[in-house]
Amino acid sequence: MRIGILSDIHANIHALNAVLKDCEEQKVDRFWLLGDYVDYGGNPVEVVSQLSRMEVEYMVAGNHDACLYTSTVRSSTTPHGKQAFENTRKLVMEQEASFRLLESVAAQPMLYLPDRKTLLVHGTPSDPYWGKFLPGEHADALFDEMEGMDASRMFMGHSHVSFMLTRGGRTIINPGSVGQPRDGYPEASYGIVEGDCVTFRRVNYDIDGAAAAIRKAEMPEYLWRRLYKGI
Ligand SMILES: [Fe+2]
Repeated sequence: MRIGILSDIHANIHALNAVLKDCEEQKVDRFWLLGDYVDYGGNPVEVVSQLSRMEVEYMVAGNHDACLYTSTVRSSTTPHGKQAFENTRKLVMEQEASFRLLESVAAQPMLYLPDRKTLLVHGTPSDPYWGKFLPGEHADALFDEMEGMDASRMFMGHSHVSFMLTRGGRTIINPGSVGQPRDGYPEASYGIVEGDCVTFRRVNYDIDGAAAAIRKAEMPEYLWRRLYKGI
């Protein structure tokens, strides 16, 4: 069984379609999704529709998904994030049915799979919508949290940076971001898991198309410029 781990798609249908093509070539059977399906990109409706057609086994919500339905979750701390949220919220109000999938997971930022001793979380276990962990930071607290939850493997998103860390038989994996990588490389990022093996994949996609969609949605220039740099 080959599982595609996708996170932080952020309304970038061009990146998602390129990743799905790569998944097909890599013989991925099903998907685990780690949240932040909307905002920043220009095609939230198309992305959520595509997710509905995929073989999704598990999915959790990110802060950007949850804040559309839960007033206690903030949209973002940045002006660009807030503007993207306003755009998405307008679309959700106009086309509520297209976003039902998001609504169904909005209150679920973390899932524990006991038979696999695996945690899926958008942020971190102690702050599942917002907790941001980056490589190079002190990971002991995260491993301790995993130990307390009897998890040997944790998949997390939110930072948009891919990495894998291990300690004492426990592993933390971030597959990076499909739709807005922030590690200095513009290629869409995702992971494939097969048993204990994790493969990190980077995929070229039509950045011009994604940038044009952001411009068409009249969102800030910064949001499409950053796609070319992977920042
Ligand atoms: Fe995100």
